[in-house]
Amino acid sequence: MPTTVAVSPKGGAGKTTSMLNIGLQLAKKGARVALLDADPNNPLKDFASGGHCPENLLIIPDVNEDNIADKIREAAEAVPFVLVDLEGTAAKIVVNALQQADYVIIPMRGSHLDAKEAGKAIKLVTDQELAVRRHVPNYRLPYSILFTCTSAAYETRNTAGLREDLQKMEIPMFETEMKDRDAFKSMFKYQRPLELLDTSLVPGVATAIVNAEAVTAELLTNLKTIQEAAS
Ligand SMILES: Nc1ncnc2c1ncn2[C@@H]1O[C@H](COP(=O)(O)OP(=O)(O)OP(=O)(O)O)[C@@H](O)[C@H]1O
Ligand SMILES: [Mg+2]
Repeated sequence: MPTTVAVSPKGGAGKTTSMLNIGLQLAKKGARVALLDADPNNPLKDFASGGHCPENLLIIPDVNEDNIADKIREAAEAVPFVLVDLEGTAAKIVVNALQQADYVIIPMRGSHLDAKEAGKAIKLVTDQELAVRRHVPNYRLPYSILFTCTSAAYETRNTAGLREDLQKMEIPMFETEMKDRDAFKSMFKYQRPLELLDTSLVPGVATAIVNAEAVTAELLTNLKTIQEAAS
């Protein structure tokens, strides 16, 4: 406990990159973390095959629609942080994961096309909430939009406008963004955490680390708020 699931029906929204970085940063702080790779393309299994994952970050491969609920329950009993990376789909596996979730991150690039897809993810979360509320009236499944791949240099009008729109609709958002940084891409190329990338080959590693730490810190704050509200 708690289980955080990344959901977006849109491929390439930044789910895997964001969840891997959060998992690695939590592990760097000494936490035991399970990161479930529920994408048939196995991006996290591939990353782990490089042999540079910290011991306290357990990547659980081969998670599918049939076994995801059991795998999440097993992981939640074993470690304090469970993260789930789903493929870009709205298929049944997402519903099965949401049934086990305590918190949902909806990664979204800063464009209106992506916002439409994020809206579908929000609908999946609220449908899940409504289904459970039939039996547990106070049940809530909190979520937050996480902007990804946003300009590292400045806030674009698109992103600023989207933030305003979402705020008006009272849709929760991470203040911190996963900025567009080459270092995040390079992690998969070299199969290494940011901290182990060769800075003579990859630019901007230090700023990417600060970015990943900030997103993780905000997640921890959000999880704490949720836990306090639930108790
Ligand atoms: N913050 C970022 N900075 C730079 N590149 C990024 C960032 N986030 C994602 N990317 C790149 O965008 C592409 C898609 O990212 P990612 O695989 O994390 O998305 P996804 O939502 O998991 O996609 P899928 O739905 O296909 O699983 C990848 O090439 C990745 O390297
Ligand atoms: Mg992915």
